[in-house]
Amino acid sequence: MQRVFEILDAQPEIADQPQAQSLSTIEGHVRVERVSFGYDPQHLVLLDLSFEAKAGELVAFVGPTGAGKTTVINLLHRFYDPIEGRLTIDGKDLRDVTLESWYRQIALVPQETILFGGTILDNIRYGNMAANEAAVMEASKAAHAHDFITSLPDGYQTLVGEKGVNLSGGQRQRIAIARAILKNPRILLLDEATSSLDTESERLVQEALQRLMEGRTTFVVAHRLSTIQRADRILVLDKGKLVEEGTHAELLERKGLYHYLYTIRLNEPTA
Ligand SMILES: Nc1ncnc2c1ncn2[C@@H]1O[C@H](COP(=O)(O)OP(=O)(O)OP(=O)(O)O)[C@@H](O)[C@H]1O
Ligand SMILES: [Mg+2]
Repeated sequence: MQRVFEILDAQPEIADQPQAQSLSTIEGHVRVERVSFGYDPQHLVLLDLSFEAKAGELVAFVGPTGAGKTTVINLLHRFYDPIEGRLTIDGKDLRDVTLESWYRQIALVPQETILFGGTILDNIRYGNMAANEAAVMEASKAAHAHDFITSLPDGYQTLVGEKGVNLSGGQRQRIAIARAILKNPRILLLDEATSSLDTESERLVQEALQRLMEGRTTFVVAHRLSTIQRADRILVLDKGKLVEEGTHAELLERKGLYHYLYTIRLNEPTA
């Protein structure tokens, strides 16, 4: 009982400000202005970070492990608020926007997709509870998930999660992508998986992601070269700081950290 009450009493990390306004339709212009952040305020892991994405742009983050890439995604999602600086959406401070209305505008495809116990249909519909079965199937087709789903004995009614069938990493990713397509957000946050999939799965996931990113403001922690090359802008993070910024070609030219990381990757067997 004590543990239950501890959970009930716990204040969420982020709550609506009293003056927070509901966000209606948005363009999707995101700015990050001189943001510093630490999970522990005494120990900052992002330092004076500034960048922007205009509506529909693709911005990619690269950098060594621990640089702060996932932390930036966490702030953009608003799992946390910055300690200094601010994030804005179409010029409005994110802290002045209700969480509920912000979450309707964004979708996150995480590094590791976790499916909850239930049917595949419900797992995808989680992206938009109002969607009917036809809409779920349409999203699944766009996510290259429909074919493997219908080949399962119970199709969309197949149980997944702890007590259900085991899906491969690539299949779970495509379910997460279908969920995001169904949600149809203006802003997309993507933390690409580091583990490589088999070639066929990789191609299907890549195509599905490409469709998902089209026309949306997208922030991606990129490991795939194909994603990086398509980015409008690449931001190179190192130890919480933005150290380089540019397109793939510009950054290679600079012969700095990006060039170094890129060269290492080319020598990996999975590149
Ligand atoms: N929940 C957390 N609580 C405390 N510290 C954290 C937490 N998550 C990350 N950190 C710390 O913040 C720093 C940045 O971590 P982050 O996960 O953003 O790195 P990353 O660039 O995504 O690395 P990787 O490439 O390994 O995924 C690291 O020093 C990490 O130890
Ligand atoms: Mg990470």
